[in-house]
Amino acid sequence: RPPNLYSFQSIDDELAPNLRKYVLEQQNEALKRHGVFRVAVSGGSLPKTLAKALLAPSSGEGDTVEFPKWEVFYADERCVPLDHEDSNHKLVKEELLDKIPSDMGQPKVYPIEEQNLENEQEVADQYEKLLVSIFAARDSVKLPLFDLILLGCGPDGHTCSLFPDHPLLREQDAWVYSISDSPKPPSKRITLSLPVVLHGAKIGFVATGGGKQEVLKKIFETEEGSKLPCGLINAGAGDKVSWFCDSPAVENVSFP
Ligand code: 6PG
Repeated sequence: RPPNLYSFQSIDDELAPNLRKYVLEQQNEALKRHGVFRVAVSGGSLPKTLAKALLAPSSGEGDTVEFPKWEVFYADERCVPLDHEDSNHKLVKEELLDKIPSDMGQPKVYPIEEQNLENEQEVADQYEKLLVSIFAARDSVKLPLFDLILLGCGPDGHTCSLFPDHPLLREQDAWVYSISDSPKPPSKRITLSLPVVLHGAKIGFVATGGGKQEVLKKIFETEEGSKLPCGLINAGAGDKVSWFCDSPAVENVSFP
């Protein structure tokens, strides 16, 4: 089944409120299911758009962001200190977390702690251990189940730190991997594996701006594009994947 694709004229007036609705639907279902909302986020422009969505006032029942019941994880991170300007956590903190009004409460945040930056594999292994302690605390599970994974799409079709044609796309064993050859700097990064992303209960992409048009056309219209990381997620997860785009990003793109 093809993914859901939503296109909006304006980010502030349309995309953000609809993204909010989608995130809160996943939040409310997760809270019913297990009393906690486990969400993985990435960097890029996503944190800013997410802040527009989540920091808006509540319009009533079912529309409340219950931050104290959120557990926030990272879909990918750069191997830099958490206060470095390249850090995805720093971005999420500045764009979203630090702006949450105190009466809304704070989510529990699990940054990818880079204690030993010289050894990126150790950083990945540590984050995997943390995920195991949370997602497999009682039972042994094959993969962690995030209630929602929120991703961006790079102009080359990468997402998380899963890059086109990278051997990591074929890895099945670990939950978290490191790479040291990222084509987009910085070269050392930590990322959730493709099977972990595909296992998410819901996967939401946010792709905005004219710079995304070419890659979206490729992903949705061509065989070649279906093999790009974003295309592999579309194919593997179908209907549980939703794309939130603005008009410039999807102009001239035909969808299945
Ligand atoms: C990273 C980012 C990256 C980003 C995409 C889309 O670590 O480099 O997480 O994967 O999500 O490049 O970025 P934009 O949304 O800014 O286009």
